[in-house]
Amino acid sequence: MYKYVSYVSEQTHSLSEESIQELLLHSRAKNTKHQITGLLIFFQGVFTQFFEGPEHYVEKVYRSILDDSRHTKIIELSTGYSDKRYYADWKMAYHRLSTDQFVKITGYQELDRDQFFTKPCTTLHHPGIQLLESFVQGLHFA
Ligand SMILES: Cc1cc2nc3c(=O)[nH]c(=O)nc-3n(C[C@H](O)[C@H](O)[C@H](O)COP(=O)(O)O)c2cc1C
Repeated sequence: MYKYVSYVSEQTHSLSEESIQELLLHSRAKNTKHQITGLLIFFQGVFTQFFEGPEHYVEKVYRSILDDSRHTKIIELSTGYSDKRYYADWKMAYHRLSTDQFVKITGYQELDRDQFFTKPCTTLHHPGIQLLESFVQGLHFA
């Protein structure tokens, strides 16, 4: 059985493309070691991530993610178990979304941050879930 977790969060300060690349480099190395796969989307300072792997490692990595001062207002979207991986080949796929792509996927004309973060997560209409789903379906945000 594999455990999976997805969440949205907000950057604490403006992160340059270079610091995101550093974060990815480090995360991918650790994920390889811990057999974790998944994806990360970044849009206007908002992260949406899904990751999966052996329970012990997923919980360990999740604890360090929750403690990471580069982001805040972490809202868990979903967590659970699966007997197969959703992203077996993806060490940590990354995509930075443009505003146009965000609007196309979520239907939101403007990102109202407060609404984005306080919207109930019980619904599949949460914009974070929609972003993850479109990533999964191989929609290349064209
Ligand atoms: C948005 C975001 C996503 C992250 N994703 C991962 C990840 O998938 N895997 C990982 O090991 N660390 C990830 N990190 C980094 C961890 O929070 C933490 O900095 C890192 O695991 C600590 O590594 P260290 O113990 O080697 O210093 C992420 C951090 C942020 C801010």
